[in-house]
Amino acid sequence: MVKNYKIIGISGSPRNKGTHYMVKTVLETTSSDYELINLKEKNIKPCMACGGCYKTHKCAVKDDMREISRKLEKADAIVLGSPTYFANVTGIMKNFIDRCLPLYLSEKLKNKRVALVSVGNFGKGEVRYLDGFDVEKAIKDPVKRRRLGKTIRRCLNIMKFFCVYHMEMKVIGSVIAINGKPESTRNQLIRLGEKLVK
Ligand SMILES: Cc1cc2nc3c(=O)[nH]c(=O)nc-3n(C[C@H](O)[C@H](O)[C@H](O)COP(=O)(O)O)c2cc1C
Repeated sequence: MVKNYKIIGISGSPRNKGTHYMVKTVLETTSSDYELINLKEKNIKPCMACGGCYKTHKCAVKDDMREISRKLEKADAIVLGSPTYFANVTGIMKNFIDRCLPLYLSEKLKNKRVALVSVGNFGKGEVRYLDGFDVEKAIKDPVKRRRLGKTIRRCLNIMKFFCVYHMEMKVIGSVIAINGKPESTRNQLIRLGEKLVK
């Protein structure tokens, strides 16, 4: 167990329900000094694409993202969680991701450890979004339509892509909860928390 770890959890849900439970369970299991940030309680404006951060590596927008960025920079590890909304992350999570552009440019989160969680209401046979998969065709086919999507997996992969490809963080692991039942993943969440501080 790594000593004195500082971990920041980010929940991208507008509710204190599934995602909140999942992120909190991972954080608690680490037995570390942690803070859970609920994006819904924060004032995070959308990225203005002003381009200022390309020169300064700082964001020109004065809102809660300043403090969150500072906390992320200081963190040893991060837990990122979002509910699945239309096979994507929530709007507040995407706003947060976009506002990480200065952190991306300054490579401030590079090599940080990250755990990912995602929850959705859909079950096992949910829609599949694949590269080259003809969605328009598939939704007209009643059989394929039912299989049209690993929407929760896609939500997770959006966060994973951001963490691995852009931020160059180390994804330690991830947990997906289907059928809107995050409690059923408790053991996986505990293992994820333990792995995060190993
Ligand atoms: C606008 C909206 C879109 C949604 N889209 C999906 C979806 O594509 N796939 C899915 O499995 N669940 C979808 N859901 C269900 C939520 O992901 C589910 O209720 C989840 O448990 C919410 O997480 P929370 O409890 O952390 O708020 C959607 C819910 C809303 C409100």
